[in-house]
Amino acid sequence: MDRCSHANVWDGVSEGMTTDNMQHGNLYERYEWKHPTQVAGVPWKNPVATASGTFQYAAVRWFYDVSQLGAVTTKGVSPVPWEGNPGIRTAEGPSSNINAVGLQNPGVDHYLEDDLPKLKAINANVIANVAGHCDDDYAEVVAKLNDSPADMLEINVSCPNVSAGGMSVGTDPVALSRLITRLRKITDKKMIVKLTPNVTDITVPARAAVESGADALSLINTLLGMRIDIRTGEPIITHVTGGVSGPAVLPVGLAAVWRVRTALPEVPIIGIGGIDSGEKALEYLYAGANAVEVGAAALFEPTAPLRVARELDALLDARPELADKLAKGETWR
Ligand SMILES: Cc1cc2nc3c(=O)[nH]c(=O)nc-3n(C[C@H](O)[C@H](O)[C@H](O)COP(=O)(O)O)c2cc1C
Repeated sequence: MDRCSHANVWDGVSEGMTTDNMQHGNLYERYEWKHPTQVAGVPWKNPVATASGTFQYAAVRWFYDVSQLGAVTTKGVSPVPWEGNPGIRTAEGPSSNINAVGLQNPGVDHYLEDDLPKLKAINANVIANVAGHCDDDYAEVVAKLNDSPADMLEINVSCPNVSAGGMSVGTDPVALSRLITRLRKITDKKMIVKLTPNVTDITVPARAAVESGADALSLINTLLGMRIDIRTGEPIITHVTGGVSGPAVLPVGLAAVWRVRTALPEVPIIGIGGIDSGEKALEYLYAGANAVEVGAAALFEPTAPLRVARELDALLDARPELADKLAKGETWR
């Protein structure tokens, strides 16, 4: 595999640049992408984005220019700041990690004043991820984002929802239809609905979202899981359960994309789950995705999304038929 050259991110500092005047760490040299894609008609310079909650511009900008990515998906934003869950929020699992961060975020007003303008100032293609505990929460955030420079919206329907009796709205097709129908009336931005895999048949909420006005689907969010501390006999995570992500969930995400692509041949799909290499991203494209998001891999390797994008660009050189389809907004199957 032809890896990108790794310039030492601290070289700039030792040459007199400070972290205040250094624009980007430039871990990777400038690169002309050869294989773009489209998601719901929105052009992406390559098929790789960050996954929500695993990317923070303030930290990552020291390592590389995130505008090089196909898109940058930001952390879920709610109408007001959320503190997230107390106590221990993460645990390791086999080839995976489990998190119960609880959608901690500084709220949509802070996002509109701070994170989003910074990302748009460097011309990043921004997907704003939306969180809510009830339909009104989502509606308020989407209304504010509709007047913003965000390029696409990604509606995270995995949050516990009081309008759906405390269940995640993504597990109830009736509640999901009601929510997406309402949001469709509020925004003309391209709306991606991010589905939870914690259902019996993911094609049911997928169809409900599309029939209610979703422009695209992203799948999958995390799987429900937990771990026990055998010294105490108690759950490691204070919230007891959390969301499982990382390499272990790759086969689950692939099966979800495959099944939704088979059920809904036309809908644009972003594949997510366990991607840490160009090869794994390619699996999603062959399963029928238009693009992918890289999540947990970036928690311990901040540049993973860019590395995956570069690896995928090289792999697509040898697959002109697939590359042609992606460039036209079509998919392999
Ligand atoms: C620490 C952490 C925080 C996350 N926060 C969000 C979030 O705010 N909104 C969302 O839609 N998904 C969130 N996710 C889910 C990821 O975006 C992704 O769907 C999931 O982790 C599976 O992909 P991966 O295996 O590449 O991590 C989060 C995941 C992790 C690990």
